[in-house]
Amino acid sequence: MADYKMDADHPGTAMARGVQGVLGKGLDRVEGALKVTGSATYGYEHQIENVAYGFLITAPAAKGKVTGFDTQAARIMPGVLDIIVDDPRIPRQAAAFGPARAGNEAVDHYDQVLGVAVAESFEAARAAAQAVIVHLGREQGTFDTMANVASASGPPKDTRLQDIAKGDLDQAMAAAVASIDQVYTTPNQVHAAMEPHASIACWDGDQLTLYSSLQILKVAKQVLAKAIGIAADRVRIYSPYVGGGFGGKMLGPDAVLAAIAAQRIGRPVKIAMARQQLFHNVYRRTDTHQRLRLAADEHGRLTAIGHDSIVSQGPDGGMMEPVALGTISLYDAPVRHISHKIVTLDMVMAGAVRAPGEAVGMLALETAIDELAEECGRDPIDFRRLNEPKVDPMTGAPFSTRALIDCLDWGAEHFGWTHRCPTPGQTRDGEWLIGMGVAAAVRINLMMDSEARVTLRPDGRARVETDMTDIGTGSYTILAQIAGEALGLPLDCIDVVLGDTDLPPAAGSGGSFGAASAGSSVALACEDIVATLAERMDTAPEEMTLKDGHAIAGNRRMPLGQLVGDAPLIGNGKIRQGSNAKTYSQAAHGAQFAEVAVNAITGEVRMRRMLGVFEAGRILNAKTARSQAIGGMIWGIGYALMEDAVLDQRTGQFVNHDLGEYHVPVHADVPHLDVHFIERIDEHANPIGVKGLGELSISGAGAAVTNAIYNACGVRVRDFPLTLDKIL
Ligand code: MOS
Repeated sequence: MADYKMDADHPGTAMARGVQGVLGKGLDRVEGALKVTGSATYGYEHQIENVAYGFLITAPAAKGKVTGFDTQAARIMPGVLDIIVDDPRIPRQAAAFGPARAGNEAVDHYDQVLGVAVAESFEAARAAAQAVIVHLGREQGTFDTMANVASASGPPKDTRLQDIAKGDLDQAMAAAVASIDQVYTTPNQVHAAMEPHASIACWDGDQLTLYSSLQILKVAKQVLAKAIGIAADRVRIYSPYVGGGFGGKMLGPDAVLAAIAAQRIGRPVKIAMARQQLFHNVYRRTDTHQRLRLAADEHGRLTAIGHDSIVSQGPDGGMMEPVALGTISLYDAPVRHISHKIVTLDMVMAGAVRAPGEAVGMLALETAIDELAEECGRDPIDFRRLNEPKVDPMTGAPFSTRALIDCLDWGAEHFGWTHRCPTPGQTRDGEWLIGMGVAAAVRINLMMDSEARVTLRPDGRARVETDMTDIGTGSYTILAQIAGEALGLPLDCIDVVLGDTDLPPAAGSGGSFGAASAGSSVALACEDIVATLAERMDTAPEEMTLKDGHAIAGNRRMPLGQLVGDAPLIGNGKIRQGSNAKTYSQAAHGAQFAEVAVNAITGEVRMRRMLGVFEAGRILNAKTARSQAIGGMIWGIGYALMEDAVLDQRTGQFVNHDLGEYHVPVHADVPHLDVHFIERIDEHANPIGVKGLGELSISGAGAAVTNAIYNACGVRVRDFPLTLDKIL
């Protein structure tokens, strides 16, 4: 197996040699036709014989104790097969990451899953679930983050982001020539993937097969096995196509309940969560309350950075939103103060939603930087240039690549930044006030363990196999491109098989580590094959060219199939977590530009255009990368202007728990978006020189919008989202 030690090996050999010319190209998705013709099979769509339908039974209140269930009426309804409310394995929490109910009858978040109704049809199961009466001794829950700050706890010990207190912040603020001290708030937000969580469970003896919609299969397999109480090698999961995953497509209660129900009734069971149930049973992004204190000297240099956050969590704990993750690496100052406080509420747990940390942290930080730049009388791009650190502010390590200023400069030139009037409220188009805003983007770079197998067959075709997922990001396509480049094969000679836990375990999709991790493992598996091909060509890999299905060395040109002979050549590749060089600080960077129009009479905001300029190492596919970036920028628009899960403080439920009332940008809200990549192959990141891209593009995007709104009309709103009632 081709293993990899970053500092010992020369990075990127297969990619450096590649002459096929498929890497980086903006090629169409290899599975695109399957998707647009409806032939790509999603979790709920697999055709399974004799399947029964489940519908989740949930708690009608946020806090209390279940004293009993009245299931009689439900049980006698037509088509009903079973009502399951007594299984101790029923998970209490969002992603089955928390404890099982196990005799604990406490309810501690609204709509908590309590059981499942199983029937011959979806409609019968839903009707039966709704006919179950839950006897609940109701108690008063706690739902208000700021009212409960006194009982807040600090960051958990295992979090990446511990509190920092370097120097005297109060003194630095008092001594500053310019300063800002403001509080920014962001509301609860949800994933709202187009495809809801859905699973089909089938038992064959003690072997469980699950069809589902998941991001990281090897983790889901462990979690499901533990939840059901069987060994992990009894579980096989398929998730070949996923209709969106933003951190929430880990293992849901749909999977666990489907497995329990299928076991109980002795038939396959499928469960799709209703959109409304998703709002309360998939972990949310916490609300945040962020106090930014920034101080600068007479030269416009930051002298102090303070970023104190308050976030919330459910009673069973979970991930802390690392709000200051972007702050710690973006700017340096002699005085630095970072803190996070966690308030426990009777709500569904908070967890990872696209770019945990930077997505909401940078909304506040980059708005605050805009405010401070103005206080200093400086252009916001010049201000960032002045405060660009030479080394990582936290660790002192050099950056592997950092093109933040290049991104700002490229963007400024192409967006027409010089046409921006620095004084707000000066540019008018009829009743619309026009403004431009800019913000920096940063996202940490992660690598995870990932394995792949590549088989080169006697017919000259290659097959790439790994349990990697494609959550709409383009994994199928970029893995084919990497194998094509490394083996010198046109893409139509490559089959990529993903989404099956019987294949080598991949990183999965999350944290923007998917392409770098799974891609590296595929590149290494190809190296394995290239070594054998070179042996058979009697040459060294460096002396051999692979192109159009042929190996070329000296004056010989051999078809790959002929070199392979009778037995397929199998290459295995494995990249290890953190094998990216520790001696370098690694993050991806970018610059976000926005132009908005604010209606002078109604306060309505309309996006006019946006430009995102990003540096994230090597770009594997210009088209899928651009789609990722555009998706992130649209999230930025949503976070700035719309997204808000409104919590009813009396009942602890989100009142707008569907896509009719939880607003996300639709086509009419999204104007022309432009994306440009500044490509810097990061030789210190991994064998393919790639850094995480997807989540970079949400970072800073919302702040560019809010800064543009300020530039348009002179109103600074710090309570997100910026709806027209706040701007007016
Ligand atoms: Mo992402 S929030 O790690 O899918």
